[in-house]
Amino acid sequence: MDHADHANLLKTAGLAPAGAWADLGAGSGAFTLALRELVGAEAAIYAVDQDRGALRELERAYRARFGDAQNLHILPEDFTRALQFPPLDGVVMANSLHYYKNPKRDADERGGRGGNSMRVRVNARAARSASSSSDKMSILEHVGSLLKPHGILLLVEYNVDSGNPWVPYPISFETFRSLAPRAGFSEPRLLGTVPSRFLREIYSAMAHREDIHH
Ligand SMILES: C[S@@+](CC[C@H](N)C(=O)[O-])C[C@H]1O[C@@H](n2cnc3c(N)ncnc32)[C@H](O)[C@@H]1O
Repeated sequence: MDHADHANLLKTAGLAPAGAWADLGAGSGAFTLALRELVGAEAAIYAVDQDRGALRELERAYRARFGDAQNLHILPEDFTRALQFPPLDGVVMANSLHYYKNPKRDADERGGRGGNSMRVRVNARAARSASSSSDKMSILEHVGSLLKPHGILLLVEYNVDSGNPWVPYPISFETFRSLAPRAGFSEPRLLGTVPSRFLREIYSAMAHREDIHH
């Protein structure tokens, strides 16, 4: 996938320009750059990752593509912890939620039906990421608390529920659809899909924060 593919996955969200956004688990910035393309130079973008090397790459790529990085804020932090942002208009989570387990109820529901996502051996990097007790529900609730009322969550994930050592706990669109409302979000809308040779396909989805948090 290239920059155009990344931007296309988010484009049908029809984002308004400007505002305050965060990319949680931004890595080297594939979707930070896509986001910047869609929300424009006036938007404040907080790129959060615990991998400082990836964030250096992100900043280089951002400057190379957009010329300056005045409204880009690089945060080498753990996104499961308290983060110093203003209330956000939106959050992007691209391939970063799949390091966190499904909430117990989902795991129980899948038990005996062949879902192996709770049994895979997790690779070292993912194990570092998933070392806290966070699961997808608590992460989504935390993300909701960072958003303004009706703020946007853009999720990019593999459209499968069975993982492997690199993508230990993927979340299909159907599973996200059932989880999001329980974590304080609207019913998600599927934005786009791209075939993946690695794991079936990648999808993008959008949900809004509902008002149960405050
Ligand atoms: C597979 S990469 C995805 C990078 C980028 N979003 C993309 O789609 O190309 C996942 C990233 O999430 C980061 N990550 C996972 N858990 C994190 C956490 N709790 N806090 C900060 N970064 C985290 C990892 O360091 C890694 O860079």
